[in-house]
Amino acid sequence: MEIRRLSLQHFRNIRSCIVVPGRGINILFGDNGQGKTNLLEAIYFLSHLGTFRPTAQKDLVRQGMQWGRVEGTIEDQGVPKDILLTIGEKEKGVRVNGKPVSRGVDYYGTFDVTLFSPETLNLVRGAPEGRRRFLDRAIYSLDRRYLYDLKEYRKILQQRNVLLRLIREGRVPRRELTVWNEQLVRTGSRILQRRYRFLKEYVEYCTGIFRQLVHKEGELRILYHATLVRKGEAMTGGLSEIQEKFMAGIAAVVDREIQGGTTRIGPHLDDLSFEVAHGPAKSFASQGESRMLALALTLSEARFHSEKKGAPPVLLLDDVASELDPVHRQRLSRFLCRMGQVFLTTTDKDLDEKMEVSSTRFLVERGEITLVKNGEKL
Ligand SMILES: Nc1ncnc2c1ncn2[C@@H]1O[C@H](COP(=O)(O)OP(=O)(O)OP(=O)(O)O)[C@@H](O)[C@H]1O
Ligand SMILES: [Mg+2]
Repeated sequence: MEIRRLSLQHFRNIRSCIVVPGRGINILFGDNGQGKTNLLEAIYFLSHLGTFRPTAQKDLVRQGMQWGRVEGTIEDQGVPKDILLTIGEKEKGVRVNGKPVSRGVDYYGTFDVTLFSPETLNLVRGAPEGRRRFLDRAIYSLDRRYLYDLKEYRKILQQRNVLLRLIREGRVPRRELTVWNEQLVRTGSRILQRRYRFLKEYVEYCTGIFRQLVHKEGELRILYHATLVRKGEAMTGGLSEIQEKFMAGIAAVVDREIQGGTTRIGPHLDDLSFEVAHGPAKSFASQGESRMLALALTLSEARFHSEKKGAPPVLLLDDVASELDPVHRQRLSRFLCRMGQVFLTTTDKDLDEKMEVSSTRFLVERGEITLVKNGEKL
């Protein structure tokens, strides 16, 4: 996928701009606080209908204005698509080729992007929730049915938790739980099966890319920790096996669940861990290594996606290259040259030379974006 043209109005600190990006690497450079990440955020917004920053939707609209808009012409394997997003005080509008799209779930997959941002670093060291979100997003960007399952699971979970509390208070008999247990196991097992299946393939991509970027003989293991299996117990990932273990797991904890009023096992509580040569990356990887690992996780997602869909997603790399040493920077550029369209932000105006790549360069200054060629603003 590729963006052929991007037009913004009243988005963050950008009053109005039209950007025609290049096909390969696009470098957005400029000083701190000028609007580089804002531009990436607009592209991300076109894909996810939301932002990657912890912010309310109305904050995306330029201060003092009532509405903003992001419009993109996307090329998807030769087919152009026009996407128009409008953001108001409360609501947002989505149109693809002029036709309104009312449900977000029906929109996913229209335009694919993969993002690396400073927040991605939390994948290695942060809370489990971020790792679950990463995993889920990687899966549903390839399979929309997975997103429907996640939504369904969340609903079942909520209702089951309400019921657990009612049982605790003696207002509902315990047998009413049976039907909710079955639903939880049915949908939850499908989610788990998809996660196991995805990880089996993804881990191979990730190890390969980790070796290209970090260390030729680098070891990397990605482990999935399911709350419904006991420590050390094996799980092959077959559907009936998962269902059986899920049911047995519920039977073992249901008394405590009623006491606490919440569901204690299932994919909503599972976690991933990353192990490098000496042990868990959380405790053994250096700052730079954690960064490279997070980058490898993101790039593998993009590569995996590219193989499955037959075309690479647009890659957004916020502030990725400046802190890398020259060797790692070189390795990264070699990798990026083989991806599709890439957007990279930096405060270093010479990054293209340092990376030894040919690129389309844009200067970002006080919310204005200008194409720069041979040192001259165009
Ligand atoms: N809704 C808004 N209206 C106007 N300005 C905004 C709005 N939201 C954010 N800004 C401003 O946009 C500016 C640029 O933000 P951005 O995060 O894009 O900077 P950046 O170029 O990526 O900087 P850095 O190199 O520090 O990451 C900030 O000064 C911020 O105050
Ligand atoms: Mg920034």
